Amino acid sequence: MNTRIGILTGGGDAPGLNAVIRAVVLAANRHYGWEVIGIREGFDGLLSGAPTLTLNEYTVRDLLARGGTILGAANRGNPFAQRHEHPDGTVEYTDVSHIALERMEALKLDALIVAGGDGTMSIAAKLVQMGARIVGVPKTIDNDLNLTDVTFGFDTAISTATEALDKLQTTAESHHRAMVLEVMGRNAGWIALKAGVAGGADAILIPEIPFRIDVVCNKIRDLQASGRRYSLIVVAEGAKPVGGEQQFYISGNPLMEARLGGMGYTVGNLLHECLGVEVRVTVLGHLQRGGQPTPHDRWLATRFGWAAVHLVAQKQWGHMVALRGEKLTSVPMVDATSTKRVDPEGDLVQMARDLGIVFG
Ligand code: F6P
Repeated sequence: MNTRIGILTGGGDAPGLNAVIRAVVLAANRHYGWEVIGIREGFDGLLSGAPTLTLNEYTVRDLLARGGTILGAANRGNPFAQRHEHPDGTVEYTDVSHIALERMEALKLDALIVAGGDGTMSIAAKLVQMGARIVGVPKTIDNDLNLTDVTFGFDTAISTATEALDKLQTTAESHHRAMVLEVMGRNAGWIALKAGVAGGADAILIPEIPFRIDVVCNKIRDLQASGRRYSLIVVAEGAKPVGGEQQFYISGNPLMEARLGGMGYTVGNLLHECLGVEVRVTVLGHLQRGGQPTPHDRWLATRFGWAAVHLVAQKQWGHMVALRGEKLTSVPMVDATSTKRVDPEGDLVQMARDLGIVFG
């Protein structure tokens, strides 16, 4: 009987997901002669029995450079805690994981490839413990997954953030302003650090190094004294002041997980207070997740998708593709957590400091 595999994209999207789908389909079809079907809307689609998508060379032919995911993604849909709201307003979470397994059987899937972040991997790992045949492909623009050196989507996010800094620089210079750019990254400062260095930032505030605003103010004063009348400050959405807290723009809503955001404006106000100069704040937001993947991310996503197909062939259930140096490897999904952080004492931060960048 013909081998039939499924693919779904879980969690938030990241540029390169479509390139993964394409690589999976091409490698599975061409190398093994397997059939591939796409499951829409992540685990939500698997549970709800949404119509699947037949994937072949023709359906994936324009996908390499396309952002987002043609399969749709969902940040909800945890089969181990499905949310039910009763008419009286009470909310209950039930374990419906058996439905996920039944659906995989009903779809006659010999294996499932899931592309996602830590949440998707921990769900998949639990399903594997129940007997499901699943392998994983890691994705996140935040680059905070601990078991792989890098994830696709990160390079695209850095490019977008760097381009934003390049653009902010010209208008900052014309108007003699301090420009604050808030970038994504959750609790990791990777996007802020790399884009900040690449975009010539004067200060980079990251979650791993709680900041003192007076350090940033002094830096800007020094720049002014040297004749530079503009400055660029990158603020990671998860940054926080010494002794202070992170900021959230969505919280306290039972339907939505808390979302970091707003620290850019706080920093902007503090800078205005201490310097008296004009400050403008830009929150880059989801522009970092949208649009075409960079060539690097297309390449990485293609390698990951191809490798996932070979993991299926080797029946490496519960394993996720990972990159160590230039080598592809596989690691247990159960160990994939979003815990990779910028080392405050490490070479990368030291290099930035040696170039005159302050971290507050
Ligand atoms: O994890 C990726 C990410 O873009 C984070 O950088 C950000 O905090 C979060 O997702 C935003 O999530 P949402 O798309 O649900 O607002």
